[in-house]
Amino acid sequence: DAPKPLAGRTAIVTSGPTHEPIDPVRYIANRSSGKQGHAIAANLARLGADVTLVSGPVTIPDPAGANTIHVESAREMLEAVTDALPADIAVFVAAVADWRVATSADNKIKKKEGEGPAPLVLTENPDILKTIGHHADRPKLVVGFAAETADVIANARAKLARKGADFIVANDVSPQTGIMGGDRNRVRIVSNDGVEDWPDLSKDEVAARLAARIAESLNRKPL
Ligand code: C5P
Repeated sequence: DAPKPLAGRTAIVTSGPTHEPIDPVRYIANRSSGKQGHAIAANLARLGADVTLVSGPVTIPDPAGANTIHVESAREMLEAVTDALPADIAVFVAAVADWRVATSADNKIKKKEGEGPAPLVLTENPDILKTIGHHADRPKLVVGFAAETADVIANARAKLARKGADFIVANDVSPQTGIMGGDRNRVRIVSNDGVEDWPDLSKDEVAARLAARIAESLNRKPL
């Protein structure tokens, strides 16, 4: 049998986008396929972890070996993540919408001839990574992602401190990279120990390496 360095460990992974309702038929969202997050959940499970995957709306299937909880909005995602505590590991891959509509309408907002578009008043969503990174029940290892289109490393370093993460997996998602929605990813792992530059890999290979890296780091730390 394959070695199970994460046997007896629990992990929470977030994946996919969140949908923030404007009214019953419209929503605000980020682009996210869920491929990377789902692959990470599957790979943590493969190494023996008991994995809770909290997924926003995606079109890909639930990964093998994980307990998947489906949510729509950032607030639902935070609640599901908090309910899954305590955990040894948390990996926040979801592309959570930074803002939601302050008061979503109960009925479809009607287009009114000659009146122009309805104004949208936005309010900030909770930051799930930051909340859990500073939580009284903080997991031993907290991993965040940073999708940037410029100043990737500087932004990742700032995020590490601000959000209370142990690693930030940083990637350049500029349109020309093809990473968004694609099957490949080129990441750098930013921690207080420095920056690891990983080669261009499939999202599944990134997930396998990250799961192994998490196991190594956790098994090195004193319990
Ligand atoms: O600040 P930014 O959105 O770039 O941070 C990205 C990291 O924070 C990702 O790990 C993402 O899953 C997490 N995040 C979150 N809740 C938010 C915004 C981002 O968990 N509201």
